Amino acid sequence: MKTKISRTIVITGATKGLGRALADRFVTLGHTVIGCGRSSDAIADLQQTYPAPHSFSVVDVADDQQVGEWAKQHIEADCVPDLLLNNAALINQPNPLWAVPPSEFASMLQVNIQGVYAVIRHWLPAMMAQKRGVVVNFSSGWGRSTSPDVAPYCTTKWAIEGMTQALSQELPEGLAAVAYSPGVIDTEMLRTCFGESAGQHQSPAEWSAKAAETLLALTARDNGRSI
Ligand SMILES: NC(=O)c1ccc[n+]([C@@H]2O[C@H](COP(=O)([O-])OP(=O)(O)OC[C@H]3O[C@@H](n4cnc5c(N)ncnc54)[C@H](OP(=O)(O)O)[C@@H]3O)[C@@H](O)[C@H]2O)c1
Repeated sequence: MKTKISRTIVITGATKGLGRALADRFVTLGHTVIGCGRSSDAIADLQQTYPAPHSFSVVDVADDQQVGEWAKQHIEADCVPDLLLNNAALINQPNPLWAVPPSEFASMLQVNIQGVYAVIRHWLPAMMAQKRGVVVNFSSGWGRSTSPDVAPYCTTKWAIEGMTQALSQELPEGLAAVAYSPGVIDTEMLRTCFGESAGQHQSPAEWSAKAAETLLALTARDNGRSI
């Protein structure tokens, strides 16, 4: 396989936290970033900071139609990802399972599971047509272990591990699907469950140097791995 120096990288949830830090890092490294998120202010900031060939769009991954239009627009412009990062996710407000409101539980499933499926459904066929590419589904330590008060989040991240394993068995040669647990990083998500003590952990900018290296090094040989 010919190694492209500059990769096309799709990142969901690029507006803050790990997704934003990776977008910053990949642009700096000379790659083309296609990112999305729901926050229109943050997307406007990204559009201004990183003009074409980069592309940032307001997309809710839980909305299959929005994801479909987003992918179609880029694929028709010959913008097919080498790396598809399913990073966008929510965490529940800490509570025992029986106290989680049904609407919150439903949102967790819609974004963290259905959203990942929608992104794969709309982007992957073009990656298969170009016969290469790596899908990275962001998992968590809580996709491989559990703690009290985060049952909805654990449910979704364990599902991501299963979805990724099954997908890896379906992919044709040249492609890979990987479940990726990023570690513990001080983001808004971490503050939801760790509070102020999240500040003891590395910042997204610090984390992104090693993480970008790890993600860029993934190849078809990594298919099916939980990293
Ligand atoms: N931080 C950690 O220590 C840690 C540990 C383990 C795993 N993770 C995983 O790493 C990933 C990133 O987490 P983070 O800590 O960076 O979280 P974060 O700071 O809360 O950021 C989450 C990102 O997802 C986006 N997002 C949420 N719902 C969305 C939707 N429906 N459509 C599109 N974008 C959406 C948010 O943007 P908008 O609000 O603009 O939509 C934001 O950009 C997640 O998958 C998380 O589970 C994080």
